[in-house]
Parts: sequence; C-alpha cells; structure tokens
Amino acid sequence: MAAKYCTLASVLGLFLVFTVLFQNPVTVCGQSIPAVALFTFGDSNFDAGNKQTLTQVNVAQGFWPYGKSRDDPNGKFSDGYITPDFVATFMEIPIPIPAALKPGVNVSRGASFAVADATLLGAPVQSLTLYQQITKFNEMKAANWKDAFITQSVFMIYIGANDYLNFTKNNPNADASAQQAFVTSVTNQLKSDISFLYASGARKFMIQTLAPLGCFPISRQDYRTGMEHCYEPLNNLAIQHNQKIGPMLNEMALTSPGFQFTVFDFYNVILRRISPQRSLGYRFLATNVSCCGIGTHTAYGCGLPNVHSKLCSYQRSYLFFDGRHNSEKAQEMFGHLIFGADPNVIQPMNVRELVTYPVGEPMREVWLPTTSATVQAIDSSSSTSRGYEFY
Ligand SMILES: *[C@@H]1O[C@H](CO)[C@@H](O)[C@H](O)[C@H]1NC(C)=O
Ligand SMILES: *[C@@H]1O[C@H](CO)[C@@H](O)[C@H](O)[C@H]1NC(C)=O
Ligand SMILES: *[C@@H]1O[C@H](CO)[C@@H](O)[C@H](O)[C@H]1NC(C)=O
Repeated sequence: MAAKYCTLASVLGLFLVFTVLFQNPVTVCGQSIPAVALFTFGDSNFDAGNKQTLTQVNVAQGFWPYGKSRDDPNGKFSDGYITPDFVATFMEIPIPIPAALKPGVNVSRGASFAVADATLLGAPVQSLTLYQQITKFNEMKAANWKDAFITQSVFMIYIGANDYLNFTKNNPNADASAQQAFVTSVTNQLKSDISFLYASGARKFMIQTLAPLGCFPISRQDYRTGMEHCYEPLNNLAIQHNQKIGPMLNEMALTSPGFQFTVFDFYNVILRRISPQRSLGYRFLATNVSCCGIGTHTAYGCGLPNVHSKLCSYQRSYLFFDGRHNSEKAQEMFGHLIFGADPNVIQPMNVRELVTYPVGEPMREVWLPTTSATVQAIDSSSSTSRGYEFY
C-alpha cells in the first residue's frame, strides 16, 4: 500500500504528495523493505515448533495454556507469538515463521531452525546444537533459496543459555577460573558456528546477548533467592559471555568480507523491566514470578501433564509467561526494539537498517562497549533521572 502511494506520488509530483499525506497521514514514503527472508537459530526462545519433530513425547508447548492469547498452541514457548514473528511482520514477511524441521512447510521467506534445549557445546537430548542447525540449513539450501537471496536475508541467533544453566547445575561451586574457561569454550564455539553460517552464505547477522539468567523466575525458585534477589552466579556467567560478543563480531566484520552484524542488548532490556523503578513504566505488574506454573515463583511445569499449574488471568501484565520464557506482550516489545530501536538497545544498527544496508558493503560503524553512564542509569538503586531514555 505504502509503496504504491510512493510510486504514484513521485510520478504526479509534489502537490499530490502533500494531498496524499494530508488525506492519509499514516502513509509515509520511506525506504521500502526489500523482500528477503528471516532465518532464526538457537533455543526455545526462537523455536517455532521444531522440538515436537525430535521427540515422541507430547511437547507441552503444543497444548493449552501455551498459545492461549491467540487460542493457538503451536509449539512456541509463549502465550502467543514470539519475537521473530514480530520482526518478520515488520519486515513484511508473512507469519508465522515456519518450523524448518516440519515436513511440507513453505520456507520461501525464511524458517526457524531453533530447537528447545539447544546448546553450543555438548550433545543436547532430542535437540540440535547450533552447529547441527546450520548443517540442516545447508541441507535445505539448494532446494529452497538462491545464494543472492541468502546474502540479503537476516539471520537471528539466540543461544547459550542452556550451556550456562547446565554448567551451573553440574558445577555449583565453580571458581572464577573454571567459569572463565567455560565461557571461553562456549564463545569460541559460537564464533566458529557463526563462521560456518557465513561460509554457508549468510551475511547479515542479528545476535542477542544472553538474558540475566539468574533473574528467571525458575532460577529464583530453584536456587531459593526469594523475590528480591537474582541468582548472581548465573548472571555473572551471562555478563562474561555477553562481554565477548561485540568484540568478537567487530573482529569478524574486519576479517570476513561483507560480514554485517548487530547486537541486541537483551540482558539490559530484561533487567530494566525487572527494576522496581521502571517495570511499571513498561506496564508490567509482575516481573519476578511467572504467569504459568507452580512453586514459590509459579515457575515450574507450565502445561506439563500431572502438574496442576496456576495460570494468571491477564498474561499481558507479566514479563514472563513460564519460568524462563517471556509473555507475548514482552516479545512484541522485543520485536519492536530489534527492528527499530536506537543504539542504546541494539547496535551498531537496528534490523531495519541492517536489512536495507547494501550487501557486500563494509560496516562503517563498530559495536561499542556499554558506557558507564548506561550502567549507572540502569542501576536499580538509582532513583534520579540522568536524562537518558531507554527502551
Ligand atoms: C510460498 O509462499 C509464498 C509467499 O510467501 C508464495 O508466493 C508461494 O507461492 C508459496 N509457495 C507454495 C509452494 O505454496
Ligand atoms: C550438561 O553437563 C553435563 C556434565 O558436565 C555434560 O556431560 C552434558 O554434555 C551437558 N549437556 C549439554 C547438552 O551440554
Ligand atoms: C524483583 O527483582 C528485582 C531484582 O532482583 C528487585 O530489585 C525487586 O525488588 C524485585 N521486585 C519485587 C516485587 O520483589
């Protein structure tokens, strides 16, 4: 619709542009979004229904109350759509993004290769490592997508949480050097997998930092932190992991021709919504407990048979739908931020800029470490406004 107005307006001249704009102020002639694909890789957060194809057991996410807000339980870890669905909508891609492992889906505008329980290291049970997901992408490539189309398309990756949750469970007393060594192996694997995806033809990458894993309702519940505190050993691992992402991608952009990327600061996006001074501003009433489950933080067993989970009455006021996955309302916010936010949240560019950035062109900006001003502004103990706006 918008594109049609733009063409018409440029033919008929300035007078008509004004007429059209005044009659229909929503129509703005902007840079149009190229018709490309969105591919997602990673764990449950981006799983669009793949998990059920790898297990005989009924996956809870295929049943109520998952999908409740859309009356459509379909294997997604949310009460409705997930973040990639919103990003796809903004890219004018028909949704939902199909699960790549399901037979007979139309993957012409992209697919989800993400599977719940996915890890970077090890051999996840009834799941795929990121490496295996990329292998699957390569198997499907020839039959579905041209090389030039792949170079224009966006590759969203969110992975690593399961590696650190597993590590912390098995090594509760890991000292600083054991933690560092583990973070190094995880991030080295991530780098090698991103190189594999680049070698497979991908050029435009959107990588999320890890959430504050210790603030998940399930982490607070399992490690008995109470309501006020997060489980800091998990947050520390996420912070160490996240610090390596930006510099690693800066380096890859320098050494791999045509490599373009951006980093979504998911860690602080979640933390700001948890902070008591800010959560209401984001319209979340409950951020430390989940909407669906049982236990001190209603964090365990949502949708599992034999578990009489509680379900909150209004999902949209919860940051977390289950013990570690966000409500559709929160995921819609993340989609907006990924597509259109400023560098406080996603840098060096947002996905709208990434997708229109010329293919093959070197990046003109680099990822920069979060400034101390940013860190102060998100400190939950600070109540004074510092004049920064965050999303
Ligand atoms: C797949 O979807 C696209 C639109 O996204 C459509 O143009 C195409 O015809 C579909 N292919 C099949 C085989 O249905
Ligand atoms: C989880 O940790 C155990 C013990 O360290 C390890 O053997 C296993 O491979 C890990 N699982 C995954 C999926 O990484
Ligand atoms: C939620 O958690 C944050 C961070 O741990 C804490 O500052 C806040 O007080 C908690 N909110 C409630 C309502 O307990």
